[in-house]
Amino acid sequence: MTGTPMSSLAADPPAAQQPDWPDPAALRAVADDLAARPALVTAAECDRLRARLAEVACGAALTLQGGDCAETFDGGGPERIGAAYRTIRQMSAVVSEAAGLPVVQLGRMAGQYAKPRSRPDETRDGVTLPAYRGDLVNGEAFTLESRTPAPQRLRRGYDRAAGTLEILRGLTAQRGGEFFTAHEALVLEYERALTRQAPSGTYDLSAHLVWIGERTRQLDGAHLDFVSRIRNPVAVKLGPTSTPDDALALIDLLDPDREPGRLTFIARMGARSVREVLPDLVAKVTASGARVVWVCDPMHGNTVSAPSGHKTRWLIDILDEVRGFFEVHRALGTHPGGVHLELSGEHVTECVGGTYEVLPAQVPDRYETACDPRLNRGQALDVAFELAELYAEVRAGRRP
Ligand code: PEP
Ligand code: CO
Repeated sequence: MTGTPMSSLAADPPAAQQPDWPDPAALRAVADDLAARPALVTAAECDRLRARLAEVACGAALTLQGGDCAETFDGGGPERIGAAYRTIRQMSAVVSEAAGLPVVQLGRMAGQYAKPRSRPDETRDGVTLPAYRGDLVNGEAFTLESRTPAPQRLRRGYDRAAGTLEILRGLTAQRGGEFFTAHEALVLEYERALTRQAPSGTYDLSAHLVWIGERTRQLDGAHLDFVSRIRNPVAVKLGPTSTPDDALALIDLLDPDREPGRLTFIARMGARSVREVLPDLVAKVTASGARVVWVCDPMHGNTVSAPSGHKTRWLIDILDEVRGFFEVHRALGTHPGGVHLELSGEHVTECVGGTYEVLPAQVPDRYETACDPRLNRGQALDVAFELAELYAEVRAGRRP
């Protein structure tokens, strides 16, 4: 046996939520093409984000993360990208001032094109087709052609991500500061094709941070195996069924050196569960000596149906989960690291409530998301003002 890498000898771990690509040769060709293209971000930028998240882990900074549930190839023109970017910046300004801490800003942008689904298929009027898995995989239109996974979409995703990054870099250059990108590392062919060797290690250079979602965080699965091998800062979503043992096993796998900034846990418990489930997780993780970043995603545990049948979320539930997250951290003396939101910078009507109130009956009026309901700009700023009050209390508690 000569020089065969160990990784090719071990059985590949199973990968959940992968598209059923009809043409493996075409997929291979696209992946090879992407592997030969320039990386989208640099290893130095990923290291920089890890260092900034280390400040969050240690209580010296906080993080605001937001953007579409699913970016689309056609939906993200410069205006929409700029509107979401400005919303995150405005939220950061409000919260930073109140907290007396710098804010690490992160967009669910430039790569958030793939979605996990609860069912692999969708049936309408007796016709069953593959589910829409995001523009990186297939089209939303309910036809066989559109729903068949198409590998060329990985290339379009790369091009769209490059264009979005260019816009974000331009906006950041104009205004100063830093802005990082993140998405769910879901379609492994895309993530692997953009993985590169740098002097300081192996990085997934499709984004600064990638996270693993609630449906793909199997400890023996391919997604965690993939992120265990990259140097980027990484995050894992933790839903209401997560146990302290799950969290500790994730730390051993993803952060064996206990490096602050390497691992973020994004808790998405739902307003009803956060006060019951989160305390034990935070207490046992803290007792283990690990310094993770704790982020609250108050969106994914609070999805309900509007009268029209649209998926929606009530701002009161979102705010309640955020408050519950802060209560848990205050009781334990740990740092509430920040929030992770689905938001648009425009006046969409996908979530209910807010200062400029969206009523349940108005949800269909401007429902534009390709997947989950997003806060509109006003609702996102409502969350920012609530965060400002909560961080002001944290700050008052910190004073000697
Ligand atoms: C998401 O962030 O859009 C998502 C699918 O989240 P989760 O994995 O937490 O369900
Ligand atoms: Co979502």
